[in-house]
Amino acid sequence: MGVVDVPLGQWHPRRQSTAPTAPIQPPYPTTATQAERLAELRDRHDRECMHCTTATAHQRTVFGEGDPSARLMFVGEAPGETEDELGRPFVGRAGRKLDEMIQAIGLRREDCYIANVLKSRPPNNRAPLPLEIERCSPYLVEQLLIIQPRVIMTLGGPATKMLLKTDVGIVKLRGGWSEWVAPVGSPVRSIALMPTFHPAYLLRNYTLETRAQVWSDLKAVMQRLSECA
Ligand code: URA
Repeated sequence: MGVVDVPLGQWHPRRQSTAPTAPIQPPYPTTATQAERLAELRDRHDRECMHCTTATAHQRTVFGEGDPSARLMFVGEAPGETEDELGRPFVGRAGRKLDEMIQAIGLRREDCYIANVLKSRPPNNRAPLPLEIERCSPYLVEQLLIIQPRVIMTLGGPATKMLLKTDVGIVKLRGGWSEWVAPVGSPVRSIALMPTFHPAYLLRNYTLETRAQVWSDLKAVMQRLSECA
């Protein structure tokens, strides 16, 4: 991805209007490390997620991976075929594009945390259904609250819509800063969120314009990370 200078997005401090519901109370000791909390959450998700324990089209759940205290967290939609086979997020063709995006801002994949809204693959790669999102996404919220990244980068429409509780499409939202507002009573109030195109969309629409747009979004993230502690 080349450097193309296009204007950075606007900061929209409180695009989200409704307060989310109360967080799930974590059943781990307050002294547990972030890695231990994520491990506990992973086990609990695999035992209890109303979506992933009842869905049948997948081989493995894909919890997410990366640095438990990452400053940057990517959130995609749901595992695809390769992710379902390997149990890891973004390891197929779209994943290789995501790796390039991460490298373009001077980071390594293992410096970030990568997760999805749904932790199991929908049949035939169809889009996640509202009930599936309702059942599985509380675990993503818990991941966010454990990791507490400085910046969330959502990849594509479904992740953006879910975290911002909006129906506005990704074409309108990408490139502009928003905030993910944490459930009331959480250890953080909100986290800066930059929506961008899904790498699979980028691959399907590999034009100068889309590449410049994604690069601009990445630069905004890089700039913001350099400004926060
Ligand atoms: N697409 C996603 O949204 N997530 C993955 O993990 C892989 C492809």
